[in-house]
Amino acid sequence: MWEKSSMLMKLSCFLVLFLVVHLQEVLLVTAQNSKASPWQTLSGDVPTIIARGGFSGLFPDSSPLAYEFALVASSPGTTLWCDVQLSKDGIGFCLPDIKLDNCTTISSLFPDDKKDYLVNGVSTSGWFSVDYDSTTLSQNVSLIQGIYSRTYRFDGTMFPLAVEDVPSLGKTLPAFWLNIQHDIFYSQHNLSMKDYVLSVSKRVAFDYLSSPEVGFLSGIALSFKKTKTKLVFRFLGEDLLEPSTNQTYGSLAKNLTFIKTFAAGILVPKHYIWPVTSDLYLQPHTSIVTDAHKEGLEVYAGDFANDAPISYNYSYSPLAEQLSFIDNGVFSVDGVVTDFPITPSEAIGCFSHINRSTTDHGKPIIISHCGASGDYPECTDLAYQKAVDDGADIIDCPVQVTSDGVLVCMSSINLMDDTTVMKSSFRSRISLIPDIQGAPGIFTFNLTWEEIKTNLKPLMMNPESNYNLVRNPRYTNAGNFVTLSDFLTFAKGKVCQEY
Ligand SMILES: *[C@@H]1O[C@H](CO)[C@@H](O)[C@H](O)[C@H]1NC(C)=O
Ligand SMILES: *[C@@H]1O[C@H](CO)[C@@H](O)[C@H](O)[C@H]1NC(C)=O
Ligand SMILES: *[C@@H]1O[C@H](CO)[C@@H](O)[C@H](O)[C@H]1NC(C)=O
Ligand SMILES: *[C@@H]1O[C@H](CO)[C@@H](O)[C@H](O)[C@H]1NC(C)=O
Ligand SMILES: *[C@@H]1O[C@H](CO)[C@@H](O)[C@H](O)[C@H]1NC(C)=O
Ligand SMILES: *[C@@H]1O[C@H](CO)[C@@H](O)[C@H](O)[C@H]1NC(C)=O
Ligand SMILES: *[C@@H]1O[C@H](CO)[C@@H](O)[C@H](O)[C@H]1NC(C)=O
Ligand SMILES: *[C@@H]1O[C@H](CO)[C@@H](O)[C@H](O)[C@H]1NC(C)=O
Repeated sequence: MWEKSSMLMKLSCFLVLFLVVHLQEVLLVTAQNSKASPWQTLSGDVPTIIARGGFSGLFPDSSPLAYEFALVASSPGTTLWCDVQLSKDGIGFCLPDIKLDNCTTISSLFPDDKKDYLVNGVSTSGWFSVDYDSTTLSQNVSLIQGIYSRTYRFDGTMFPLAVEDVPSLGKTLPAFWLNIQHDIFYSQHNLSMKDYVLSVSKRVAFDYLSSPEVGFLSGIALSFKKTKTKLVFRFLGEDLLEPSTNQTYGSLAKNLTFIKTFAAGILVPKHYIWPVTSDLYLQPHTSIVTDAHKEGLEVYAGDFANDAPISYNYSYSPLAEQLSFIDNGVFSVDGVVTDFPITPSEAIGCFSHINRSTTDHGKPIIISHCGASGDYPECTDLAYQKAVDDGADIIDCPVQVTSDGVLVCMSSINLMDDTTVMKSSFRSRISLIPDIQGAPGIFTFNLTWEEIKTNLKPLMMNPESNYNLVRNPRYTNAGNFVTLSDFLTFAKGKVCQEY
């Protein structure tokens, strides 16, 4: 008895088979006319990378370290984004939020200063730059990380930067983007963003000027007509009202001819281009990029962050997300606004316009773990197919044995791990086999292949579910179990070779 189960265990654990999938050996030759640009941007130029508040995914937004790190850790030409807020004495500072308590130590410095102001008609309470002069902002207040899931290690170590201090952080003059989120609010406090922007434009060069307020951009457009500064209209949520026209951003997005009268480009939240369902699945892309390009408007996509939830269609890869915006065969956005500029740098510099059906033999061999088990239940037909589609060189079958001697591919000898056995009538077949594991289990060799195949369903592994990192929930029980024989047949169809 002991010998039998020990032998079974050996079979299960050590008979792991690797098969090599030889994909066709082809040189990477692009069929495209060598003169035509591979980029489907408006100009045909490579998309621009815009670092929102610098490398704000790591350092406090708009801090000197965030801007400096963006310049060293991303592609040359990366544009530095600054959200401009005005002090009481009319000096512009780069601070990500109109509420300073979100991004600075102000609430602990001046605990009694909390104010209630109307911001676009909405009563908002907090600490505001209009109540402090520039000396206080640059000498007493320090920057903190406003997104609490990001590191607080650099909190309180750096002062806010005045707008004109940012470009000098680079060894050479970096490209610079000013975003004016709240012209109307500042004018209600007798501060003119227009006057400020015009005066600062005499001292520092900036390449982009954006705002979600039609009134601000159209009022300043003439002053930048013959300059290299591009005006960009920033779209907010579709249902929000644009404060100067009282139209929703959704309806303005259908009126791009009007936007073109004062702007050279638009900045849209990424879901305007690739809408996502509430359960985080991608819907087909909209036509906004091609529509805007037809109007002669550039399109910048915003809200990219590697530590925020992205659609399951991207398999948790922010790189795949970037590629869907810049290299999808139909269009490319003209730029991406991101908290992690290193990711579009990689996407643009290393992973765009690659022929996916070509194997590059200079790269390390890619071996799947139970197929594409991050996307589908382990060792199912769906998981193996996805692994091959994704370019795996080797797919793997961890071999287990059923009670009637059928060899199957299953990641665990214990059916409780990767099947729905606990929800089936076979949940009574539980036993303790200390040679295999300390806890009781229901083992592959306690059920026949027929019993497994007809009564159980695969079960997605979710190793990080404690951190709410759930794998492809629509496919929790999807796919079919695979015998070793099925596996070999499948691999053979892919011109496989045993390893
Ligand atoms: C990519 O490679 C495949 C297979 O080798 C080839 O048939 C196809 O023409 C290539 N596509 C391009 C755009 O070069
Ligand atoms: C602000 O900083 C200055 C210079 O360091 C200091 O003299 C002043 O007391 C500080 N004010 C507050 C309110 O902390
Ligand atoms: C600060 O602002 C960010 C970005 O708008 C937001 O995600 C975050 O929740 C805010 N934090 C606080 C403490 O209000
Ligand atoms: C702005 O200026 C007007 C006219 O001088 C004055 O009545 C108003 O109180 C000022 N508002 C603020 C917020 O300072
Ligand atoms: C803006 O439009 C809404 C309805 O779309 C209306 O209720 C509101 O009065 C309008 N406000 C102004 C200032 O025109
Ligand atoms: C576009 O917007 C402008 C300004 O709000 C408006 O005058 C015009 O009627 C709009 N056109 C359409 C087609 O909605
Ligand atoms: C995203 O994944 C879902 C589920 O697999 C699929 O139905 C949908 O078509 C995918 N979306 C896109 C744009 O490919
Ligand atoms: C499962 O199989 C093992 C080995 O044959 C056996 O010792 C055990 O009793 C079986 N468990 C059940 C519940 O049938």
